[in-house]
Amino acid sequence: MRHLISLKRQSREDILTMLDMAQKIKEKRNAGENTPYLRDKTLIMLFEKTSTRTRLSFEAGMTELGGHAIFLDARTSQFSLTDFGDEIRAVMRFGAVLMYRAKDSENVKKAASFNQIPVIDACSEKYHPAQALSDVLTMAEHSGGIDKVKKITWLGIENNVSNTLMLACAKIGIEVAIVAPEADAASVDPALRAQAEATGLVRRTLNLAEALKNADYIHTDTWMNMEFFENGRVKDEYKEEYEKRKEKFMPYQLNADLVNIYAPKAKIMHCMPCHIGYEISRDAVDHPNAIIFDQAENRLHMQKAMIMWLLEKSI
Ligand code: CP
Repeated sequence: MRHLISLKRQSREDILTMLDMAQKIKEKRNAGENTPYLRDKTLIMLFEKTSTRTRLSFEAGMTELGGHAIFLDARTSQFSLTDFGDEIRAVMRFGAVLMYRAKDSENVKKAASFNQIPVIDACSEKYHPAQALSDVLTMAEHSGGIDKVKKITWLGIENNVSNTLMLACAKIGIEVAIVAPEADAASVDPALRAQAEATGLVRRTLNLAEALKNADYIHTDTWMNMEFFENGRVKDEYKEEYEKRKEKFMPYQLNADLVNIYAPKAKIMHCMPCHIGYEISRDAVDHPNAIIFDQAENRLHMQKAMIMWLLEKSI
């Protein structure tokens, strides 16, 4: 059974197959064609954390594929009352695919280990394959083919998004420059890092000029984890870490000056939500090179392809 968790098990061909499917599904949508490939199929969407894009894009995607999606908030379900393994096995009886935004990637792996239905890690502390594959689609579109993308640069903290993006790009054959003074400790996966580095395409440096030279795309993401916030405010227990990160990462903020000086042709990407004034400035979001909203939309198209691929369907 197929699962999409860290991308460690997916080959270059798997990634390119999903890219091809996503492009075809998007073309059909843009041409006004219906794509009811998953009629009567249900996607279970289990969330232990907040979301805007992931929830909307998966749910809209299933509607457009002729199927249905059920949103299940772990906080308003019975997960806290019982054994996780028992509860998730019951949950998976109701759907064809499980999309799971988990606090702990081990629980995503545990759900997948039952091999009842395909499982997608929809952003745990270590991985975000839906974001990485969607970003591959966005870069392919803006470069006129993924083979035209030669180099990306990741700025800021190494985290769940950078892990899966780095691995996807390295597998495809794209050079990845990482400018990160720190990795989010919870995100570190030595096996994933080793797999990406074995391609010889990953380079870490704190030299901005070197990292950004000839970059086709510059990516960044929040330095602050979702868990730091409650109702838009930093929780007391995370205030010290929040201040520490702000000081450490500010020299690597993605802003218009940095792009204009070091990589004036590079496109600006951010998986959103953007924390303006932290990892990205307002003038970078509004920069003519920014493709952030195309990037958000492409979650819809790529995730349809991911679900189709998991169910071994073709167009
Ligand atoms: N990029 C992303 O996953 O967005 P959400 O957290 O809003 O789902």
